[in-house]
Amino acid sequence: MASRPIAVCFFAVPLIIFLSALRSREVLAQADPAACLSCHKDQAGLMDTMHGAKSDPASPVGAGKACSACHGVNPNHVGNPAANKHPVRFGKGAIPAREQTEVCMSCHAGNRHLAFWESGRHGRNDVRCNDCHAVHATPSRGSTVAFTRRDPTVSPVIGTERQLEYETCIGCHKQTKVQINKPSHHPIVEGKVTCSSCHNPHGAQSHAMIKHETVNIQCWNCHSDKRGPFLFQHPAVEENCLSCHAPHGSSHTKLLNERVPNLCQDCHDWSRHPGTAYSGDQGFIRIPGSPAKTANTRFVARSCLNCHNAIHGSNAPASRGKYLTR
Ligand code: HEC
Ligand code: HEC
Ligand code: HEC
Ligand code: HEC
Ligand code: HEC
Ligand code: HEC
Ligand code: HEC
Ligand code: HEC
Ligand code: HEC
Ligand code: HEC
Repeated sequence: MASRPIAVCFFAVPLIIFLSALRSREVLAQADPAACLSCHKDQAGLMDTMHGAKSDPASPVGAGKACSACHGVNPNHVGNPAANKHPVRFGKGAIPAREQTEVCMSCHAGNRHLAFWESGRHGRNDVRCNDCHAVHATPSRGSTVAFTRRDPTVSPVIGTERQLEYETCIGCHKQTKVQINKPSHHPIVEGKVTCSSCHNPHGAQSHAMIKHETVNIQCWNCHSDKRGPFLFQHPAVEENCLSCHAPHGSSHTKLLNERVPNLCQDCHDWSRHPGTAYSGDQGFIRIPGSPAKTANTRFVARSCLNCHNAIHGSNAPASRGKYLTR
């Protein structure tokens, strides 16, 4: 009768020892980054990021899952790394993009900036979190996030040690890269405006993932003097700043889509101006074969803007305001 408990002990004890050994290797794999980093020295930057914060119980390290929170666990990895990969791989032999993102979202889904990830252009096109975020890299001075920075450039206007967000973006967005280097541009390469000043890279329901509902609200955010209300509005301005301006850059001054007067004449019929106020030989332009001998000197340089200088709207009384001339 006594043999059964002995037999149970005979099998159970080694089993328990075996299981607890497995378990402790698993715990080690989860809890002790030092063991992993003894081989993976080049990944140690993670410990300097918010993911390495011991004081934050929500961070991987604070939760005792320094590496496993993202990579999962393979208890046999240490013994034979090449044959025992981790369940979650971001680099070599990567798992599908969507599954990589889900790992990050297991902690970050509650972040309101990420609320439209699924419907955003990046999410829908299989861009991964780690295409922009280098979670193992120590953020450069003055920022909390390290970027992957696909296309590092040495800019003449900034120190090379500061990592600018746009460098990561233009690694994929070549067209935008061309635009922000045109003669007139938002000071993005100068480091004063970032791509995410206007866009939410994590997705938004707006046109082109801009941060505000409409383009105008987006622009007013920094150019509040253009908001009005004005006594005399210029309907084109109220409607959309992009009727006249390019958001990233332009070869014309002041980010204009076209040069003045052509810009204005897209909407305004030149034949109505000068009208009766000026004589027939003073057109906007010199038209070959027309009675006009010269182009009107009033239209040189700033052209229409010589007179219509309150182009975004005017509060001046009477006809001066009405015609946006002051
Ligand atoms: C917050 C999630 C996260 C945590 C925590 C994390 N990693 Fe990573 N790891 C990544 C991502 C994402 C990559 C892909 C490369 C990149 O973005 O830097 C990666 C890449 C790696 C690589 C390169 C192999 C490859 O896939 O190309 C190794 C090795 C690695 N991690 C080891 C570790 C170790 C060791 C720890 C614990 C100290 C750890 N990781 C913690 C997310 C994480
Ligand atoms: C004995 C040295 C050593 C230790 C300790 C070690 N690794 Fe590795 N690890 C390697 C080597 C070598 C590779 C490359 C294997 C290959 O791709 O052939 C690797 C690959 C990886 C990779 C990329 C491939 C994969 O498995 O996804 C990750 C992630 C990784 N290790 C994480 C960890 C974590 C987490 C720990 C701690 C639990 C750890 N490593 C401990 C040597 C080690
Ligand atoms: C175990 C939970 C956990 C996982 C998994 C995780 N994170 Fe985090 N992450 C945190 C915590 C906690 C912070 C610090 C507080 C915060 O910003 O929410 C943080 C911070 C960050 C930050 C910096 C935030 C800032 O305010 O500067 C970025 C970027 C980030 N995580 C990206 C990622 C990416 C990319 C992945 C997937 C590869 C990932 N995280 C996976 C918990 C996690
Ligand atoms: C297209 C590039 C890009 C992708 C893809 C991306 N991010 Fe970001 N992320 C950024 C930029 C840029 C910032 C800095 C925003 C700022 O300064 O306001 C940022 C900031 C963050 C922050 C900290 C600030 C905040 O908004 O709370 C967290 C956390 C974060 N990202 C997590 C993620 C996660 C998780 C994913 C994947 C689901 C992801 N990111 C995908 C570019 C990206
Ligand atoms: C890994 C490559 C990659 C990186 C890095 C990247 N993007 Fe994208 N982006 C894409 C893809 C792919 C699309 C969807 C296809 C398209 O519209 O070109 C997209 C779409 C967009 C759109 C929407 C365009 C539209 O017409 O609606 C915006 C805005 C955008 N990205 C901004 C950014 C910003 C800002 C950053 C940096 C914080 C960034 N992207 C970094 C690949 C990338
Ligand atoms: C001043 C605000 C602002 C900044 C800064 C900005 N964008 Fe845009 N972006 C816009 C607006 C507005 C649109 C919509 C353009 C349209 O509808 O013609 C747009 C459109 C886009 C598109 C869609 C394709 C296109 O050109 O219409 C991409 C991609 C894009 N931006 C990427 C970027 C990247 C990358 C950066 C940083 C280098 C950046 N943007 C900086 C406002 C901005
Ligand atoms: C994040 C703030 C910000 C937002 C949003 C913003 N701008 Fe700007 N804008 C700037 C800054 C900064 C300058 C440079 C001012 C300077 O150099 O004095 C500038 C300059 C300009 C200029 C003059 C360019 C030149 O060559 O002198 C125009 C035109 C302009 N912005 C239009 C727009 C339009 C249109 C939008 C909306 C699509 C917009 N801005 C959104 C910050 C912003
Ligand atoms: C009808 C065409 C038109 C529209 C629409 C328009 N602008 Fe302009 N904007 C101009 C012209 C022309 C200039 C150059 C004025 C000059 O050189 O004196 C200019 C110059 C600017 C400047 C730089 C000089 C300054 O006055 O500060 C900013 C900033 C600007 N616009 C912002 C905006 C914003 C924001 C909107 C949308 C609310 C907008 N613009 C809509 C035509 C337009
Ligand atoms: C996208 C079309 C568009 C562009 C471009 C445009 N405008 Fe206008 N503009 C309008 C509209 C629409 C009105 C209102 C017309 C009306 O009330 O009969 C208007 C009104 C005006 C008025 C007041 C006229 C009145 O009868 O009240 C002046 C002056 C004017 N624009 C000058 C300009 C100048 C100068 C430019 C170039 C810098 C320009 N506009 C570019 C659409 C445009
Ligand atoms: C020499 C000053 C001056 C210049 C230059 C000028 N305007 Fe005018 N414009 C006026 C005045 C003053 C009025 C008020 C009505 C009038 O007296 O004809 C006016 C009226 C207008 C009107 C409203 C009346 C109408 O005919 O519809 C528009 C639109 C207009 N201008 C557009 C333009 C455009 C576009 C240009 C450049 C191609 C331009 N103006 C150049 C002075 C000028």
